[in-house]
Amino acid sequence: MSHAGDLLFLLCSIQPSMNQFGATKWIDESRQGTALQPEEEASATSSRKCYIESYGCQMNFNDSEIVAAILKEQGYGLTTDAAQADLVLINTCAIREKAEQTVRKRLQEFKSLKKNKADMLVGVLGCMAERLRHRLLEEEKLVDLVVGPDAYRSLPALIAEAESGQKAVNVLLSREETYADISPVRLNSNGVTAFVSIMRGCNNMCTFCVVPFTRGRERSRSPQSILRECEELFEQGYREVTLLGQNVDSYYWIDPQTQQATTFAQLLEMVAQINPWLRVRFSTSHPKDITDEVLYTMARYPNICKYIHLPVQSGSTRILQLMNRTYTREGYLKKVERIREILPDCGLSTDIIAGFCTETEADHQETLSLMDICEYDMAYMFMYSERPGTLAARRYKDDVPQEVKKRRLQEIVEKERTLALKNMQKEVGKVRTVLIEGPSKRSDQDFCGRTDQNKMVVFPKKHYRKGQYVNVHITGCTAATLLGEVVEETIPEMVT
Ligand code: 5AD
Ligand code: SF4
Repeated sequence: MSHAGDLLFLLCSIQPSMNQFGATKWIDESRQGTALQPEEEASATSSRKCYIESYGCQMNFNDSEIVAAILKEQGYGLTTDAAQADLVLINTCAIREKAEQTVRKRLQEFKSLKKNKADMLVGVLGCMAERLRHRLLEEEKLVDLVVGPDAYRSLPALIAEAESGQKAVNVLLSREETYADISPVRLNSNGVTAFVSIMRGCNNMCTFCVVPFTRGRERSRSPQSILRECEELFEQGYREVTLLGQNVDSYYWIDPQTQQATTFAQLLEMVAQINPWLRVRFSTSHPKDITDEVLYTMARYPNICKYIHLPVQSGSTRILQLMNRTYTREGYLKKVERIREILPDCGLSTDIIAGFCTETEADHQETLSLMDICEYDMAYMFMYSERPGTLAARRYKDDVPQEVKKRRLQEIVEKERTLALKNMQKEVGKVRTVLIEGPSKRSDQDFCGRTDQNKMVVFPKKHYRKGQYVNVHITGCTAATLLGEVVEETIPEMVT
């Protein structure tokens, strides 16, 4: 059921502050709307300057780096000051709380910048492009170009069109585009951890989700191009890669010459073999697709981090069916049991939606009890928000009152905090290997880095350096962070 007013009331999410550390795929609140940082600000002599602001999930931030690479080829330098830019781009997310209002507000601000810089071009990229193109381009005349997530290669041509005064649009979705050959310009980076997209789109059609409509059909990138990118990152000093996809377990590549297939488990193994000192993470797994083979591969390689993000969405089988998740509560719990059997020390996180259509108090209690059983380390929690065009919007009534959704979300958040703190407390007294990511946010005397299980650790800097592995004795914790002291400099061999 679609209501015009709901267009303005987009996804509402509550994320405890700790999530900003565990975030691999989903939205890192502290990064929303950040501008792509150049290594050095485009000089006065750069022929043209571009400003790119990004919203949404990690894949979208990665896309901005692909866009930056395409524009660099065209001679653009990056700037963090929109007022200085010849080209202002906003890479949008369709799932994000208040995403549309934020984008519209930003576009109004950019429009006023244009008053002082008549030849400045403003463009909308990403997931909102398709749905908003008519309104932004033709009705409100807020932007000069609109480019969907599969059309970034056509940016130079679209910019030329816009420069000649035409409205430039390409929101076509592709079945093939993976940007495999484009090395993203790694900006806003700590130089130690990097994200690598291995596939695009999603074929799953969960009824609440707009992604299959905004990002199109699923397609995998060739293993050779992924390996090349990861190898280059390692050579540049990076020590951790996170393989990204909406549903990494359905990664599947068939070599056009040999007809040989590569599965996700095989890809994971190939990336792990690049170097034992390169940590490998991945996100997101789908409960229906994650295989024992993936779990055994994780177990075999010490450098594949023991951490799985396994969105459950709801603990009630009835609701899961309405969501078209294609697994039951019991099926999900079996998967979690399998993870615990094969990987006894594995971190586990999830996504949960409160108040999906027809959700009763009993369904909600099933979500809470499932959380107890799974003992999650972390969760991203959302109130259901009806998205225009999705299957749920067409089929079901968004009938859980707002206050009920809010209260249920609050209960889920409280449960998550209790479980997360308990899991943090279990770490106290252990020695964990940590990859140093850089100075801690709170004190320049401390470093921070993550354990294999994705928990953030803060410890005194001493003579250690970024990108180094250290063993840390965990001496205390908050709900968000472990505190510790480095105990020895040599770490156990990464290869078994
Ligand atoms: N309402 C609430 N949450 C949503 N998500 C996706 N679509 C919606 C929606 N319409 C959440 C799901 C998904 C995560 C990426 O965002 O939990 O796993
Ligand atoms: Fe959306 Fe479901 Fe695909 Fe995730 S798996 S992107 S929730 S359709």
